[in-house]
Amino acid sequence: MPAPPTILVFDSGLGGLTVLREIVAARPDAHYVYVADDAFFPYGHHGEAEIIDRVVPLIGELIATHEPDLVTIACNTASTLVMAHLRSAYTVPFVGTVPAIKPACASSKTKLVSVLGTKGTVKREYTHGLIRDFAQGCQVTLVGSPELASLAEAALSGDEVSDADISAEIAPCFVGKPADASMRTDTVVLACTHYPLLLDRLARLAPWPVAWIDPAPAIARRVVDLIGKPGNVYDGAGAEMVFTSGRPHTLSQALMPFFGGRVPA
Ligand code: DGL
Repeated sequence: MPAPPTILVFDSGLGGLTVLREIVAARPDAHYVYVADDAFFPYGHHGEAEIIDRVVPLIGELIATHEPDLVTIACNTASTLVMAHLRSAYTVPFVGTVPAIKPACASSKTKLVSVLGTKGTVKREYTHGLIRDFAQGCQVTLVGSPELASLAEAALSGDEVSDADISAEIAPCFVGKPADASMRTDTVVLACTHYPLLLDRLARLAPWPVAWIDPAPAIARRVVDLIGKPGNVYDGAGAEMVFTSGRPHTLSQALMPFFGGRVPA
């Protein structure tokens, strides 16, 4: 019987866990290695060349060490830059995470869509290309948030994060006439994998209700397209969690839900 595949999920920090949990739900049999490049977090504060120079060789080292059958780059800030470089350097299949502008614009009724990402992601030519190709008549507002990824990381780590700090980061997403539901933003793309960690609070703090578009389920479907449906043999080795800083993690209980109930070692 074939062994379960190894899937490596990579992000700058803990945000990629929101993608991991969807992949785990779709392929509960697989062996998972989650890598947080916390030594270089936050990616949103680094320049484009710096990110390429950091991520491409690092992924090469991770492939050599963990021999994954598939790698998911669960980070918009990196994926909007490095996917072509990775695919030309390594033969393993890759799945990236890029702003879900096409489905957001397709479903918006008011044609006012905001893209909430890191400052890096909203500046990318790749993101501007998605808007040119897929805005479908929508007015797209790009919102580069300086701190929301760090706030999400802090909240998951158990630190106090104030409502006021979150509200300040999301406020520019809400455009149009507040009192007229047909003339205001109705859709916000979560273009950073950290943000779904705060989804309950985003919904509560929003000045009016909107649809929050999280690409994670679509990424999990893409993974299954590439490596197939679950087999009968389940991973017995346990999931692995790697921090590039080398720090031991103390979050086992908080992280278990993302690993399908398994305790990451
Ligand atoms: N989680 C990352 C993303 O999807 C970025 C967070 C950061 O490192 O700035 O863009």
